[in-house]
Amino acid sequence: MVDKDPALNDVAPKSPRFYGRRKGRPLRKSMKRRLDEFLPEFVFDPSVCPNIQFGRHSDCYLEIGFGGGEHLAGLAAAMPDCDFIGAEPYINGVASLLRYIDERELGNIRIWPDDARLILPNIDTASLAGAYIMFPDPWPKRRHAARRILQPALLDQLAKIIRPGGRLVLASDDPTAKSWLLQTTIAHFGFVWTARRPADWRQRPADLPETRYMKKAERAERQSSWFQFRRCEGQVQAIREETPKI
Ligand SMILES: C[S@@+](CC[C@H](N)C(=O)[O-])C[C@H]1O[C@@H](n2cnc3c(N)ncnc32)[C@H](O)[C@@H]1O
Repeated sequence: MVDKDPALNDVAPKSPRFYGRRKGRPLRKSMKRRLDEFLPEFVFDPSVCPNIQFGRHSDCYLEIGFGGGEHLAGLAAAMPDCDFIGAEPYINGVASLLRYIDERELGNIRIWPDDARLILPNIDTASLAGAYIMFPDPWPKRRHAARRILQPALLDQLAKIIRPGGRLVLASDDPTAKSWLLQTTIAHFGFVWTARRPADWRQRPADLPETRYMKKAERAERQSSWFQFRRCEGQVQAIREETPKI
């Protein structure tokens, strides 16, 4: 809601603007039913500590922009002892992830069906084992650079919530996005790029699931890159952009 007093608008923290799609084709009946029945069960509650929501103390990972959820579901199935929070505002993608959860009986995923940036301030310092941003929208035009999800302010937040030694994985098949992801993250004090040789970014890390999107990129001869970073020791000095706690 816009505050009527312009002076107050200047000081009130602003919600980030989301530029993607929230809706796609009309959902099939079965998808709608899953949203109605399962989303309340699997929805992430930012006001409750993840350990309580998952009912255990475990390594917890965040995936920002899970799309159709294939990667997130693959991770959750391969790592049953870990827990996963997935954020995605595209409701068709949320419905698709719920189908994987249902079919593979995955109990270790919670879904935030909205902008990931809204929940980051609610996640405790150093409480995550890692985060993934896979094939984010590239926004290749320079004048759209501010729309790219990975920004120094997002890295500040991730550096705060990922524990020292934790992992940040970024991937893309788009040349502009690859340079952006790599340069922006290398420039951030909170993360160290772990690559030693080209194979470390040219080959998919063995523990990450292959998705249909990755196969499609390969068939179209688009070279994907995977950039792995480690959260280094040390404190986060300041968060650049205040997002209100919800
Ligand atoms: C190009 S798609 C990639 C989807 C998926 N990661 C994959 O590899 O197929 C990028 C996704 O990021 C999502 N996204 C963009 N901004 C986001 C944000 N602020 N929070 C959460 N998801 C976001 C979009 O809705 C979209 O589904």
